[in-house]
Amino acid sequence: MNIKTLGSIVAAGVWLTLGASAAQAAGDAEEGRKKFYTCGGCHAIEGYSNAFPNYPVPRIGGQHAEVVIASLKAYQAGARIHGSMEGNAKTQSEQDLLDIAAYVSRFRSINVNNHVSGNVSAGKGKAAPCAGCHGEDGNSVDPNNPRLAGQYEAYLIKVLKEYKKGVRKNPIMNSMSESLSEQDIKDISAFYGSQKKGLVTISD
Ligand code: HEC
Ligand code: HEC
Repeated sequence: MNIKTLGSIVAAGVWLTLGASAAQAAGDAEEGRKKFYTCGGCHAIEGYSNAFPNYPVPRIGGQHAEVVIASLKAYQAGARIHGSMEGNAKTQSEQDLLDIAAYVSRFRSINVNNHVSGNVSAGKGKAAPCAGCHGEDGNSVDPNNPRLAGQYEAYLIKVLKEYKKGVRKNPIMNSMSESLSEQDIKDISAFYGSQKKGLVTISD
């Protein structure tokens, strides 16, 4: 075997490996739809509520795939604590996470009217420091920063309070929420929650 033949065999091997991992990284949305079945009992019912404490189960339709995977891994590792989500995430393999994330991230709302009770225009001003990461309207461009647009107002309030208290740990968000007052949290959550284009309840 001469050097040239060896080179092309190695090159073909590399190409095959890359091809396989690229397909895997994308996830299979159709497989994900099937694997999402048990999740739908909570995430595919608009307005479904977590029992104790009482707050809406987050809308995840249209969330960035990267964020979905990172959240599920955080529950698996115990870095994010929630009884039923820990149980739901623990049984998923790496491939399951990729498939589920591919399915979940496909959804998008373009014209919904979500009821909010805080002051949307005050919230818009107060959310200015967040825009660089989460986008002007909460539809972040960087897929590592969660979309907030269209999320339940009450869920956003709960999460921001958890970051502020340090119950949910993330260095960036712990410091970003430190100086927010109770009123700031309500108004910012109303602003993101009122967006017509953003996250949506899974509907299939
Ligand atoms: C018993 C109800 C229930 C089931 C079943 C369930 N979830 Fe959840 N899920 C929740 C609740 C409640 C939260 C918010 C928990 C928290 O505050 O951290 C959540 C959070 C999440 C988040 C993070 C959302 C965010 O905005 O940070 C993702 C992603 C998620 N779930 C995906 C799934 C997937 C995938 C499954 C199925 C494998 C699933 N869930 C099954 C109730 C459920
Ligand atoms: C430097 C970038 C950055 C800035 C600025 C920033 N965030 Fe975040 N935010 C993130 C990242 C990254 C996460 C995911 C953290 C995690 O995994 O807990 C996040 C998570 C969140 C979440 C949780 C989303 C969910 O579905 O669980 C909320 C709510 C939030 N940010 C609101 C805000 C608000 C309000 C501000 C402004 C006061 C802000 N963020 C500023 C990067 C940022």
